[in-house]
Amino acid sequence: MTLTELDDLLTRRHSCRAFRPDPVPKSDIENILTSARRVPSWCNAQPWQVIVTSGTETDRFREALLHEAATGIPAPDLPFPASYSGVYQDRRRACGWALYESVGVEKGDRAASAKQMMENFSLFGAPHCAIISSPRELGPYGAMDCGGFVTAFTLAAQALGVASIPQAAVATYGPFLHRFFDIPDDRLILCAISFGYPDHDHPANAFRTERAGLDEFVEWRG
Ligand SMILES: Cc1cc2nc3c(=O)[nH]c(=O)nc-3n(C[C@H](O)[C@H](O)[C@H](O)COP(=O)(O)O)c2cc1C
Repeated sequence: MTLTELDDLLTRRHSCRAFRPDPVPKSDIENILTSARRVPSWCNAQPWQVIVTSGTETDRFREALLHEAATGIPAPDLPFPASYSGVYQDRRRACGWALYESVGVEKGDRAASAKQMMENFSLFGAPHCAIISSPRELGPYGAMDCGGFVTAFTLAAQALGVASIPQAAVATYGPFLHRFFDIPDDRLILCAISFGYPDHDHPANAFRTERAGLDEFVEWRG
């Protein structure tokens, strides 16, 4: 594979926020997982564990998660960012506004933006969800290794025409997720990846995010 081909795959991948209901064949999901596990991890510990839902199991999870989001108390295993300031706040706002503009939510319309946010908990209509966890004892480096796995999963999926979105929002309700999936307390639930075939006609999929130039994040020495 050339860098141009790899860059094309990286550029074509984007976070999908509206899926068609048709399932992805199990052999394709297996191939995505088989490729994703190739990522490096410290000491080759491969700390990721993945629960993949399909069919009625995804629907059962979606219903329970929507109920939890309406009634539960946020308690993620991994603390969410304390704040976003400066350029990080700017970028966060830019991608939020791009989504809201795409789906027709006016700036300042809190009810409409909250409704769009709730789409996270219906998994954006995806037919599959992967729950990613890491051993508590490996701490932040286990989470870091799993981040690489999540990225590779999304790229391998894209290579097969399968759209995806990593979702920290799903990890909001830690105790509920541990109970629902029977995940022991010695594992940290990091995020979910909802995936399936994209609904190309949905406005939520009509925008793309920008990236900062090298001059904004690289410091050359020597
Ligand atoms: C760890 C992680 C968690 C994320 N959580 C959410 C989420 O809960 N909800 C959401 O809509 N997008 C979520 N995203 C998607 C990001 O918003 C998205 O990757 C970013 O805006 C860049 O856009 P792109 O993926 O389309 O290139 C998450 C991405 C990552 C890597």
